[in-house]
Amino acid sequence: MVLSRRDHPVIVGLGGTARADSSCEKALRFALGHAEQLGAETILLTSTALQLPIYPADSDVRDGLALNLLAHLKRANGVIVASPGYHGSISGLVKNALDYAEDLRGEERPYLEGRSVGCIVSAAGWQAAITTLVTLRGVAHALRGWPTPLGVAINSMEPSFDAEGRCLSPALAERLQTLGEQVFAFASVADLLYATR
Ligand SMILES: Cc1cc2nc3c(=O)[nH]c(=O)nc-3n(C[C@H](O)[C@H](O)[C@H](O)COP(=O)(O)O)c2cc1C
Repeated sequence: MVLSRRDHPVIVGLGGTARADSSCEKALRFALGHAEQLGAETILLTSTALQLPIYPADSDVRDGLALNLLAHLKRANGVIVASPGYHGSISGLVKNALDYAEDLRGEERPYLEGRSVGCIVSAAGWQAAITTLVTLRGVAHALRGWPTPLGVAINSMEPSFDAEGRCLSPALAERLQTLGEQVFAFASVADLLYATR
């Protein structure tokens, strides 16, 4: 049996908010962009791609956006999820998108099994950012994903990005790059976990 690593793992970036200038989306783009620089094939699914019907648990009918999301998640070796902190938790938009992973339950690697999951949260204060990050990591874990050791919490009351999406804080830039690196590193070797099956 040949054990090998992927030089170009597929990493899906998912999240942001419905707000045009979302700090959450900028953080997602920044981390995903770093994974791309390392060699990943990246797919970005932000708010317009995630305006999905509430997950229809009692029906097999899926709209085009949902099928697009599922096709990308199925191929993914790693995922970066970015959510705002809304009233003590992740946003409905992001949670609903993640609920669609239910449709991957019958796959060889169900849900997000075998995928690294980098979690990013932006909220208007540290308390909400941290508690929401813990929640998001819990959701990733429930989906059988492998949350990376580093998650990134952002306090959007502090200047983080300019209008073009450039990161204004060297410390935040370093954390987002490290998260991108960790998702990339695990996504490159995750297949080895299954090589002995
Ligand atoms: C519906 C809603 C609920 C929110 N709830 C909280 C909250 O409970 N705590 C908090 O710190 N910020 C809260 N915020 C602020 C967002 O977390 C904050 O703006 C975050 O950085 C998302 O901003 P973005 O649109 O720039 O990504 C809320 C915002 C909205 C729109």
